[in-house]
Amino acid sequence: MDPSELDVSELEQLAAERLDPLGYSYVFRGSGDEVTLADNVAAWQRLKLRPHVLRDVSAVTTATTVLGTSVGTPVLVAPTAMHRFASPDGELATARAAAAVGTLMVVSMAATFSLEEIAKVAPGAPHWQQMYMVRDRGLTRALAERTRDAGYQAIVATVDGAAVPLRRGLEGGVLVPPPDFRFPNLAPPALADSSDLIGMISETDPAMSFDDLASFGEWSGLPVVVKGVVRGDDAARCVDAGAAAIAVSNHGGRQLDGCVATADALADVVDAVGGRAEVYVDGGIRNGRDVTKALALGARAVMVGRPIVWALAAFGEDGVRGVVRRLTTDLERTMAFCGAASLDDLTRDLVTR
Ligand code: FNR
Repeated sequence: MDPSELDVSELEQLAAERLDPLGYSYVFRGSGDEVTLADNVAAWQRLKLRPHVLRDVSAVTTATTVLGTSVGTPVLVAPTAMHRFASPDGELATARAAAAVGTLMVVSMAATFSLEEIAKVAPGAPHWQQMYMVRDRGLTRALAERTRDAGYQAIVATVDGAAVPLRRGLEGGVLVPPPDFRFPNLAPPALADSSDLIGMISETDPAMSFDDLASFGEWSGLPVVVKGVVRGDDAARCVDAGAAAIAVSNHGGRQLDGCVATADALADVVDAVGGRAEVYVDGGIRNGRDVTKALALGARAVMVGRPIVWALAAFGEDGVRGVVRRLTTDLERTMAFCGAASLDDLTRDLVTR
């Protein structure tokens, strides 16, 4: 079977059958009452398209750039932890697939392979490294420097982790990873084989403020994407503090439950940023119509989280290639229906409530 012929919902179903119970809970579920988890998907569906007709769409292109890096599709790979739940090759398989389909992978701080190993299997492909500011700033700094040395193009600083969420389906609300998982980006070198993820994550610094954002860039010399913003006023302050891009995200409904859906938060952020930085969005994006709506509202690119992990669980590397291709061809089809030959033609008037 060619995975690119499957809808994301079909990959979701296959992944549900293939992941073990712990992996299933970790990947599929959200925090609290899972209101935000569901609303992220529903909010894209609530938006409707107002297609143009009679425009020449004989040649539709999805190519664009993100922070100056060329990509063949605006569908990027969101940072998601622990791809070993989905495949023994974990992030190595995801990285090879992302490179093959011309997209960019954001590597999680809690990846089960090191950022250096990931870069090595996909030479020449663009990578960004996601990180949290942990209490031990030296640790974050060391990771920022490794990111630079490995040739990554940007740092994605996730800022929606001010408290430890209670996740559904996990004992005590937190994940205890399988003992054989390694976290070579999260752990200090001396603890590289530690699986004490909970300890590491609870070290995320709740004292972090706008003033700390610049550190990521100073340590790495790389542009900084701030991920986890859902308000225009905060987005503007991040840009004032030097952010090169804002990723509108509520972490896929895994942090603050009851948080506004990202489809409903996006326009406010785009307007507040006013072209001073790029804006991306993730959360609940499941088909090319959702991607079209996001770009029409002003996002430069989208990131997908669970669909990538579902595809990896269902078909390994082929699955990840397939799901990005599927989302991209569905985007092309939707663009043609909307009279848009390039991503620049996706303007806000195409969307209504
Ligand atoms: C995540 N996400 C996430 N974000 C981040 O900044 N660092 C991380 O390590 C992780 N890990 C992670 C694991 C899993 C299993 C999921 C599902 C998500 C959040 C992720 O980057 C993104 O914001 C959401 O996944 C987007 O929502 P969808 O596409 O999953 O609906």
